[in-house]
Amino acid sequence: MKIDEIVSAGPVLPVVVLERAADAVPLARALLAGGISALEVTLRTAAALDSIRAIAAQVPEAMVGAGTVLSAADLDAAREAGAGFAVSPGATPELLKAARDGGLPLLPGVMTPSDVVAAVAAGYSTLKFFPAAQANGIAMLKALAGPFPQLRFCPTGGIDLAGAPEFLALPNVCCVGGSWVAPAALIERGDWTGIERLARQAQSLRS
Ligand code: 3PG
Repeated sequence: MKIDEIVSAGPVLPVVVLERAADAVPLARALLAGGISALEVTLRTAAALDSIRAIAAQVPEAMVGAGTVLSAADLDAAREAGAGFAVSPGATPELLKAARDGGLPLLPGVMTPSDVVAAVAAGYSTLKFFPAAQANGIAMLKALAGPFPQLRFCPTGGIDLAGAPEFLALPNVCCVGGSWVAPAALIERGDWTGIERLARQAQSLRS
């Protein structure tokens, strides 16, 4: 799996928080049924790694990655669980190097030009822009296109169905990330049909 494959899978990369590993497979299947094949399961809960493991084993058509990766140890745990890629909210030189050395594709988080320069120096050209809405992402991404015309971004943070099109219309945006496609309340009550509907809406956005 390559990061370009992940960010080209569709206009929206769902950011998922799972409290129960038992929800992982039905969730991944609901997203797939709605047309979304790549998803990021955040390493924020005790169930995260088991959730990734379950999706990797039981839903092979899904491209499951680990989100909220903060360290080389997180990368190792994600890879061991079967994650095909990793996403981080920010990046250190150590994390950028560990992902490259370990061969797990990483979508590293950046927000400032210095973050971008560090990621480019480490060999990355597809980056997560986080937190997108809070950091005035539309204007920031337009400005970053000047000095960094070769880069592509997946803005994430504060984006929803209504806000996504403006980001997706930017030439340097390949997709957007967001948790709106898999809301905690719908996961909590097992409303997989509702999540499938949200996925279909998201998938119909154009990148
Ligand atoms: C996150 O890491 O929580 C993502 O950026 C998702 O942000 P959102 O909940 O604002 O979509």
